[in-house]
Order: sequence, then C-alpha cells, then structure tokens
Amino acid sequence: MCGIVGYIGHREAYPIIIEGLKRLEYRGYDSAGIALFDGTSLNVSKTKGKVADLENCVQQEIPNLGHIGLGHTRWATHGVPNSVNSHPHISNSGELVIIHNGIIENYAALKQELISRGYTFKSDTDTEVLINLIEDVKKKENVKLGKAVQIALNQVIGAYAIAVFDKAKPDEIIIARLGSPLAVGIGENEFFIASDASPFIEFTKNAVYLEDEEMAIIREGKDIKIRKIKDDSLVDTYVQELQINLEQIEKGGFDHFMLKEIFEQPKAINDTYRGRLLREEAIIKMAGVEDNMKKFLNANRIIIAACGTSWHAGLVAEYIFEDLARIPVEVEYASEFRYRNPVITENDVLIAISQSGETADTLAAIKLAKSKGAFVFGVCNVVGSSIARETHAGAYTHAGPEIGVASTKAFTTQITVLTLMALRLARAKGTISSSDFRHHLLELEMIPKKVEKALKAEASIKEIAYTYKDVSNFLYLGRGYNFPVALEGALKLKEISYIHAEGYPAAEMKHGPIALIDENMPIVVIATKTPHYEKVVSNIQEIKSRKGKIIGIVTEGDKTVRELADHVIEVPETLESLSPLLNTIPLQLLSYYIAVMLGKNVDQPRNLAKSVTVE
Ligand code: AGP
Ligand code: GLU
Repeated sequence: MCGIVGYIGHREAYPIIIEGLKRLEYRGYDSAGIALFDGTSLNVSKTKGKVADLENCVQQEIPNLGHIGLGHTRWATHGVPNSVNSHPHISNSGELVIIHNGIIENYAALKQELISRGYTFKSDTDTEVLINLIEDVKKKENVKLGKAVQIALNQVIGAYAIAVFDKAKPDEIIIARLGSPLAVGIGENEFFIASDASPFIEFTKNAVYLEDEEMAIIREGKDIKIRKIKDDSLVDTYVQELQINLEQIEKGGFDHFMLKEIFEQPKAINDTYRGRLLREEAIIKMAGVEDNMKKFLNANRIIIAACGTSWHAGLVAEYIFEDLARIPVEVEYASEFRYRNPVITENDVLIAISQSGETADTLAAIKLAKSKGAFVFGVCNVVGSSIARETHAGAYTHAGPEIGVASTKAFTTQITVLTLMALRLARAKGTISSSDFRHHLLELEMIPKKVEKALKAEASIKEIAYTYKDVSNFLYLGRGYNFPVALEGALKLKEISYIHAEGYPAAEMKHGPIALIDENMPIVVIATKTPHYEKVVSNIQEIKSRKGKIIGIVTEGDKTVRELADHVIEVPETLESLSPLLNTIPLQLLSYYIAVMLGKNVDQPRNLAKSVTVE
C-alpha cells in the first residue's frame, strides 16, 4: 500500500530516495513525489504516474539537491491521483514537509477547524490537513516539531506512517506509526526511513522497526529516540541486524503476493469499515450512500454488474440486500448485460463492482445504464480509476493494492462495503430492528479477528491440498449466502491450479451433477452453522453414499459433519449474512497450496491479466 522513503545524512539524498521509491513500486501506487532541502531552498516535485515520471520532473525542476529529503509513492484514498494531491505536502507557512501512508478518518472535522483559523488547502487529501494541524499545534503551543507531532497525533483518528521535517531545523526528521509499517535503517552518520527495508538494505542491515503508537526523533549525526505517542514516554531502541533479501521483503516474507494478500484480509477488512462502522453510536456512515439515499430507497430494483470474483461478490450482495433491506436485486455478468438489450429505467440503481476499476465489460455496462437514466454507484479498489470516475457516486474498498492476479482481499472487502450499504439501507427503510442492526455491527467489527482465526487452519489445509493436488476435477457446494462462496472457491482453484472445478448450489446436486460423484471426486461442502445446516448435512450424506471425498467447511466445534466428512476445516461462528467473509478463507488457502504444490505461477497464472481492459 504505497511507500515512504526518507534520508538524512552525509550523502546526496536524491539518488537514495529515488532508487528507494523504485524498490517500493511492487506495493502498487498511482503517483509519486519528492522533497529535498539543501539548507536554503526546499525543492518539491510531484507527479501522477510512475517514479520514472518523477525522475523526469526532477531533472527539469530541481536545481539543487541536499542531504535531507522525503519521497513517497501514493495509493490515493482522499483526492484523485494528480500532482496536487501527491505527496509530500507542505504546511501553510511553507516550513513543514510531510509524507504519509494511511487514512486520517477525522480529517474533515480537523480541516473545518483549521479553515476557521485561516488555514488554506491546495489538495483534497487528508494528509495536507495533518501537516497543517501539526503546524497549528507547533505555533499555538510554541513547541518543537517532535512535541507538536506528538500532540497533533493525539487528536487524530485513523492509520498512519508519517515522516515530517522542518526547514528551520533540517538536522532532524520526525516519524510516527499507527497501522502502517515504518522502518529506520541506521548507517554511519546517516539514517534511512522507509515502509520496509528494501530501500536501504544495500546500505545497512541495522534496522529499527517502529511499533504502533510509537514515534521517533531522528537527529543527523546523533541518534534516534523512540517515544510513545500517547504520553511521550521514552521507549528502548532495539536495533536488529536484518537477515533477509530484497525479494523476501517485497512479499513481506511470504512466498507469493497472493498469500501475502490472503493474510492481509484482517487489516483490509478493518481498513474498509474504518470510519464507516461506528458501533458505539450504532450508525453506518457512507457519504456516497447518504448523499443518494432517495435514489436507493425509491429504486424499483438494484442491478449489480461485474465480472469474475467481483460478480461473486455481487451474488453475495443479492442475498444481503434482499434479506436485510428488502430491495429487489438482479446480478448480471457485465459482459452479457451490455449486449442483451436489457430493460433499464431511470428508477433502477446499478451497482458496478470492480477491484481494478478498469474492466472493459463493467465500464460498458455502466455507460449503458447511464444512457438509460439509471443511477450508477461504483464499488472499486482504485481511487480515480475509470469506473470510479464514470459512476455517479461510489464507495472505495480500502484493500490496498492487490498484486496477485487471483482476487482475494478485494473479494472480502467488496463484501464488506456491500454489507455496510445493505445495513445502512435496511436501517433507513426500517426493515431491520435496532437490536439486529447493532448485532450485525458488533459481529462485523469482530470479523477481522475471526478471519485471523480462520487463517490458523493453514497447516491442515496444506495437508488436504497435498492429498488432492493431482485430481482432475473438484466440486464446490454451498447454500444460501454460501452458494456464491462455492462459485468463488471453484474459480480460485481453476485460475491458479488449472484443475477443473465447478461451484453449485448444494440442493442442485440431485438435478444432475450427483452423477459425477464417485471415489475420485473431491467435493468441498460449505456446511457452517446456518438455517440450511440440516439440509446441507443431508446433501453430505447423499455424497457419502456415493463414495465422494468430502471436505467440509464447518463452524468450530461441529461434530456432525466431522463424523461424515473425510476432512473438516473449521471457521469461527458468525451471522449467516457475514459467513462468506470467513468461509472463503479456507477456499483461498486450499487453491493456493494446491497450485504451489503443482508448481504453478500463482501470482501470474497462464492466460490471465490482473485487469481485463479489453472485451
Ligand atoms: C478473479 O480472481 C480474477 N482475477 C477475475 O475474475 C477478476 O475478478 C475479474 O476480471 C474482474 O476484475 P475487476 O474486479 O478488476 O473488475
Ligand atoms: N490518505 C493519503 C492520501 O490519500 C495517503 C494515501 C497513501 O497511503 O498513499 O493521499
């Protein structure tokens, strides 16, 4: 999720920062920028696009360089990708410089307060608010930059990794972290700051990693002092000697981006509902929905258009919207919808779901719906993408860049956004009781921890993968909310292991597919505790009587399915409407390990692209 690089020391900062930003490109970003201070002038260069574009800008714009600097690759969350919204951001006085990874949730309120005190803003970002808050505190409290940062961060709600310096004191850099990583490389009379060690590992293997709610004052030629943000208390500095290489750093120590992104899901889901799910106040805040509430409430129906995994998320949404908000929903393959001359009226709402925001078929479906007068709402993961710009309104999944072609955290964060929308609309329509609403908020807030628990089944899933890695076919069965999860599990296996797999509603087996069952057919059955549980158990018995090999996805503590199935994988209990968020986890891991054991290119499977921008 974007990148931070800073330098203070005896070398020229520019080449270290630029090369460092290139080392962080794997994290995905949409724009880049750098600020260098040569003791007299502050030189800032920012651009939408790649680090190479930034290099071209710098060659033209920055005459002098200097020994202190900050560089940033941005993954936009507030404000579209462009040169104004790129980082670094400068305070109103022109003295303070900041780069930031993360999201300041309460930036709007802080911005209003600062505007009332005469501050002005050039960008739409939350980051520019933070640097002016720091400046405001520094002036009002008449304190040094480090203290101002500490006071300001105690007024901030959100996630951040920041680096800040003051032109008036160019021998120190202040850093702080909450929810986004930050590492310091310690060299001979020089310090390197970065989102991970890849930008400085060639210069030094001595690193300090900040923990959450810690900040540090780095003083050139002197030392690094780590403090607690909350109370300014000193923290011991633990310097570790790194034993990892570049490639391991890029994947966060995981063997593939796909596995890294599977394990990022607790954070991705949390980041997606952060600032939107306010459990204590028992409210859901989504600007795109609030501003268009009438369109949703008066809609004849909601059409969901998407492709692939995003289409599966749309199917889950159909169950959620109809079950909770009682709004008719139709889910369409965008590639079919755009050509079948569908009936669309101005009383329809179309929700387009897309991780990349660039899928050609989904974009075409949006344009068709708009041409017929429908209101179009986008659920995307890329700020400023074509679909995000083409839709009338939308809500971003804050999953961070998804590098692996097989979609994992995008799927669960899409469902998170759609669940929040359905709950908000159900509340507005009065189709959900206050107690049920609160219960859903409470359960949704516990999902990241429950996903972490579901991920702990990794070792047993690996064993199951080994048992079935050489089969030619798989069946995936699910009922209700988990029918789309069965489809998604089958797609995951197909697209990275190249094993044929089909997802089916469990009850449909007797209408034909049961003829496929014999001792050579592994069947994954989603059999977690839901109203359909008994019926799924009957389906399992039908399969067992035909010698099918059964892999049951069960609620922890389940005894019945354990008696019948050849293997069981446990997930924590939750509401049926939220169960897709947990039940998909073992299916992602199963497909990943089968593909790895078959020696497949998991992150870039054959014939596939991360974003299908052609028809
Ligand atoms: C899913 O793992 C695939 N990568 C693919 O089906 C993908 O979901 C589909 O191409 C839609 O992409 P989008 O979400 O970026 O629109
Ligand atoms: N929220 C900040 C922005 O949108 C930082 C995003 C990032 O992590 O790059 O500019």
